[in-house]
Amino acid sequence: MCGIVGYIGKRDAYPVLIKGLKRLEYRGYDSAGVALISNSGELHVYKAKGKVSDLEQFVADKDVSGNIGIAHTRWATHGEPNSTNAHPHISSSGNLSIIHNGIIENYSTIKRQLQDKGVEFKSETDTEVLVQLIEYVQSSQQVDLLTAVRLALREVIGAYAFALLDKNNPDQIIAARQSSPLVIGVGKDEFFLGSDASPIIEYTDRVVYLDNQDIAVITRGKEEVEFCNFNNERLEHEVQTVELNLGQIEKGGFPHFMLKEIFEQPRCLQDSMRGRVNIDVNHVVLSAVIDYRRQLINARRFIIVACGTSWHAGLIGKQLIECLCQIPVEVEYASEFRYSNPVIDSRDVVIAISQSGETADTLAAIELAKSRGAFIYGMCNAVGSSIARATHTGSYLHVGPEIGVASTKAFTGQVTVLTMLALAIGKARGTINNADYEKVVSELSKIPEKQTKLLECNDHVRDIARIFTYARNFIYLGRGYNYPVALEGALKLKEISYIHAEGYPAAEMKHGPIALIDDEMPVVVVATQNVLYDKVMSNIQELKARHARVIAIVTEGDTRVKDLADEYVEVPQTIECLEPLLSTIPLQLLAYHIAVCKRKDVDQPRNLAKSVTVE
Ligand code: G6P
Repeated sequence: MCGIVGYIGKRDAYPVLIKGLKRLEYRGYDSAGVALISNSGELHVYKAKGKVSDLEQFVADKDVSGNIGIAHTRWATHGEPNSTNAHPHISSSGNLSIIHNGIIENYSTIKRQLQDKGVEFKSETDTEVLVQLIEYVQSSQQVDLLTAVRLALREVIGAYAFALLDKNNPDQIIAARQSSPLVIGVGKDEFFLGSDASPIIEYTDRVVYLDNQDIAVITRGKEEVEFCNFNNERLEHEVQTVELNLGQIEKGGFPHFMLKEIFEQPRCLQDSMRGRVNIDVNHVVLSAVIDYRRQLINARRFIIVACGTSWHAGLIGKQLIECLCQIPVEVEYASEFRYSNPVIDSRDVVIAISQSGETADTLAAIELAKSRGAFIYGMCNAVGSSIARATHTGSYLHVGPEIGVASTKAFTGQVTVLTMLALAIGKARGTINNADYEKVVSELSKIPEKQTKLLECNDHVRDIARIFTYARNFIYLGRGYNYPVALEGALKLKEISYIHAEGYPAAEMKHGPIALIDDEMPVVVVATQNVLYDKVMSNIQELKARHARVIAIVTEGDTRVKDLADEYVEVPQTIECLEPLLSTIPLQLLAYHIAVCKRKDVDQPRNLAKSVTVE
C-alpha cells in the first residue's frame, strides 16, 4: 500500500508527480504529499490530509517549480492520517526528504537509539526513522549519501520501496527496494519512478523493475540508472518494455472504474483465454503445464494461498481441481498459512493467487512453502510483480489493470485461469474423459458471449438496489460452486457500501444465521439450476416462512424460484462448474448500485487499499 512517484528530467516535475499520484491512488488515499527542489535550489515540501485532490487544492497558490521531485499517497500504518504523518518526511537538517512504501519493523529500536543521540522526531511514522538514520550515518561517519544509504539499510529490518532527495544535490534521486514494488521508467534525458508502471507509461514504455536489496542511483544527464547492492557491488538490470496503454487505466466514459471493470469482463475473459483455449479442436494449452508437466500432474496435493477476493477464487479452484484432476486441494488464507507450521514438502504444489502480485502475506506464504521444497505456481494479474517473480512458474490472468479497489474482473479472470489449469492437468492425468473435457472447454469459450448478454441486467439490478439501499445487514447464500460466489457477493457489498453482509453455504443457515431472519433482512440466494437446485429451493422456502426478503439469482427460464422470490435476476444457463463466471456478475452490480445509491466512494472505499504490501 502507499503509492510513490518520482521524476527527474527537463519537464516541470509537479504535474508529472500529481498525475502519477492519481494513478496510484488505488494504493491508499489517507494523505498525500510532494517534495520538489526548485530551480533556485529550495526544497519545497507540501502535504495534506485526504486525497490527492486535497493536496492539489492546498498547493494551488504555492511555488511548485522545479524539475526534480518525489510524491506519495498514503495508506496509514504508523500514526493517524494527518499532514504531519504524511510523506515526504524530512531529516533534521532539512536537507533530505524521503517517500516510503512498506513498514520498518525495527523502527522503534532505531528511533530510541537516534533520540538518545539527540535526534528529534516530528511524526509518529516508521518512515521518518529511515531518513533520520540515513542522515545520522552520513554526518557521523562523514560519508557520501549513497554510502550512508547502504550502511543505514544494513540496520533496517522490514519492507520498503523508497526514494530520497537531497537538497544539496538537485541532480540525483536515490531509491531502494526490499519487498515493496518499485519501477523506474527510462525516458530520453529523464527518469520516472513509480510503485507500478501506471504513472510512467504516458512518457515511456522502457522500464526497469527493482529486485530486493537493490539501490538505484538516478542521475540527471546520464543515459542509464546505476544499481548496486548493500555491499556496493554493481548490478546490471535489463530495461524491459511494458505493455500497458493509457486507455487501460482510464475510465473510458464510465462513472467509476468498478463499473467499467464489471463491463469489461467479457473482453477480459477472451483475452485471458486467447492462445490458451482453442475452440476449433476444443483444447486448452497452458504453457506452464507443458513446461512443468511432471511437477503439476504428479502433485500429491495442491495448496492454494491467497487473500480476500483471490481467496474466494481459490475456493472455486479447489472444487474445479478436485473434480477434474482428482488431486486433493487445500485453500489457505496466506496470512494464516505464513505463521503456521504446515506439513508440506516437494510433492506439494502451492498455487499463489494474487491480482496485484504484491500482497505481503501471499509473498511470505510463498517463501515459507519454497523453503520447505514445494513447487510454486503463481496466478497474478500484474505482469512483472513480486509474486510473479517469486514463483517457479505460473499463468498471468491477462485481464488488464484493475483499478477499482473492489476486485471484479480479476476474480472472474482468476476463476477462468483456474478452470484452464484444472482442464489442462485433468487431461494430462486422464482424470477427465474426452467428452466431458471437450464439453467444458467448449462451454468455457462461450462464457464471454453469455456475460455480454447477462450484463443487460444492469438497469434491472439498479432498480433492485434502490429498493434495498435502506438495509443494515445482508445475507448471501449459495451452495457448491456458488458458495464462494455468495462469499464474494457479501465481500463486495461490505467493501463499497459499508453494509454488514455475511456469506454462508445455504444449508448452514439453519445452524445459526436463520435466527437473524425477519422481514427486514434481505437474503441474496444464488439458486441456479444445478444438482443442488432442489436443496436450495428448500432453503428459500425456509427463508420465506420467516418473511425474509429474497433476491434470487436464477437460471434463465426458471419459474419455481421466481415465484417464491421477492426479486430475481436471470443468468444464462451453463454447466455447473462454470456458473460462478456468470452468477458473480449480478452480485457485483448489486453491490455497485447500492454503494452508488448510498453515495459512497465506489472506487476508493474508506480504510481499504488495492495493493496490501503490509502484513
Ligand atoms: C485487498 C484488495 C482486495 C484483494 C486482496 C488480495 O484487500 O482490496 O480486492 O482481493 O487485497 O489482493 P491480491 O492482489 O493479492 O489479489
